[in-house]
Amino acid sequence: MTYSTEDTQWIQSQLNTSVVGSQIEAYDSIDSTNDHLKGSLAGDIAEGTVILADTQTHGKGRLGRDWYSEKGVGIYLSVLLKPALPSKLIPQITLIAGLAAVEAVNGFSQARAFLKWPNDIFLNHKKVGGILSENHQEEEHSGVILGIGLNINHTGFPEPLKTIATSLAIENGAPVDRLPIIASFLNRLDRHYQAFLASGLQPFLIPWTQNSEMFDKRITVTRGPQTYTGTAQKIDSEGRLVVLLESGEEIALDSGEVTLKE
Ligand code: BTN
Repeated sequence: MTYSTEDTQWIQSQLNTSVVGSQIEAYDSIDSTNDHLKGSLAGDIAEGTVILADTQTHGKGRLGRDWYSEKGVGIYLSVLLKPALPSKLIPQITLIAGLAAVEAVNGFSQARAFLKWPNDIFLNHKKVGGILSENHQEEEHSGVILGIGLNINHTGFPEPLKTIATSLAIENGAPVDRLPIIASFLNRLDRHYQAFLASGLQPFLIPWTQNSEMFDKRITVTRGPQTYTGTAQKIDSEGRLVVLLESGEEIALDSGEVTLKE
């Protein structure tokens, strides 16, 4: 189902935000909501602008993967933020966006969804959503593009996603309205973003950890050609994943792909 003007007006009417959702643009089909925002950076585009798409022809995932964007059943959106922060702090915004996303999903899910570092959302041990944040810092055309994909009303997935992906409708056993989830995510993102700008990542470390089920579990982290196996300890004050390796050494990783071993 395509987003109508009434749909975007309804979302806007539900927002109680200072930045996020300043503008909402909805499209039937777009290459990638992230790329669309990137293409608009050179223009006079307002912070908080949201691009929504009913489907994407080239939806992008992390690590150069594609994001499966079946028409009418998922949430595919991007938000433009313009934080006046040193670039080393920018990846932390992805963590707070993940928290906003898992909280929004949990408002509509029967089973509890969890975060997997850095920003995957899992439901019943399958991936239900993810975040791709892209930081563009080019003189006047700078901005952080936060893209979120959530599987909402998919009834199935093609190979090879079949065994690793799920949707809210599959797990709930009933379809779910996308609009209130979008509004909930945008409201939470705005609230978290304001708190992050004021106080940094520290206030989010406990809520983030409480919304994840990976801690104290055995994990493997793959980063390029390297693989680390150990126990997930915590997220440190910089948002890095701290892993106690089997050798007894503790390392803090700022990127990587985590697999739970049990
Ligand atoms: C991941 O790999 O987990 C991140 C997936 C992010 C997908 C979303 S869908 C909306 C936005 N536009 C894109 O092209 N990707 C993100």
